[in-house]
Amino acid sequence: MRVIIKEDYREVSREAAGMVAGLVKSKPCCTLGLATGSTPLGLYNELVRLHRDEGLSFARVKTFNLDEYYGLAPEDSRSYRHFMDENLFGKIDIRPENTSVPDGRTEIDKLEEYCTSYEEKIRASGGIDLQVLGIGSDGHIAFNEPGSSLSSRTRIVSLDPQTIRDNSRFFNKGERVPEFALSMGVGTILESREILFLASGEGKAEIVARALEGPVTSMVTASALQLHPKVSIILDSQAAGKLRRLQYYRFSEEAERKIRMPLF
Ligand code: GLP
Repeated sequence: MRVIIKEDYREVSREAAGMVAGLVKSKPCCTLGLATGSTPLGLYNELVRLHRDEGLSFARVKTFNLDEYYGLAPEDSRSYRHFMDENLFGKIDIRPENTSVPDGRTEIDKLEEYCTSYEEKIRASGGIDLQVLGIGSDGHIAFNEPGSSLSSRTRIVSLDPQTIRDNSRFFNKGERVPEFALSMGVGTILESREILFLASGEGKAEIVARALEGPVTSMVTASALQLHPKVSIILDSQAAGKLRRLQYYRFSEEAERKIRMPLF
């Protein structure tokens, strides 16, 4: 795992956008795996800026989102589909038919078939080249709550009360926060060729340390990233605050930069 520590959220977002843009330029028909939540917002804003000011084109890019609340229609303002349309897809030149977000209105008796077809669609697109991830306060990636199998696939999941509380900030007071979601599995995520994991803020420091430096366990599904061969972890200094090997990560990033520097 490559751990990159940046001063603040703005720098995290710029670094992440640089990596996504690099892939889109080198492989214009790439497949991106995308996440929702507050964390990737800065990355999406920066991609929108790169599209607007520097002509970065997503015309041939395909995307797959990690998850969606079960029961919410795509046009519902609290749905993840709506979040993606508002914050990214509607502001770049991606073709709407090339974007996929699990459909939260899939009928209950069609769920298994639907989830299998979501995975088939990912495979048919050539697989995910780069998967963007954030982390929930209980250590989840996508909506893989503690106890999810590390080889789980796309399925319906029951949300943890902690996650429901965390996400209630996106709903009006008194509104019922969905208790279920459709989510790619940990196994699905681990099949991506490359992973870009982002975290920011002091509130994430403890769980980030458990995920990166603790044991690999289904109790913290983000810890499964330790098993993936190509992961970039980009943290601000607050989210990195509880890492035991902090000095080493800073040292190795510095060493890498020197190696990449042209020799005179
Ligand atoms: C939700 C999403 C996750 C996301 C998490 C953290 O639970 N399903 O994909 O990583 O929220 O969100 P935030 O970035 O707002 O802390």
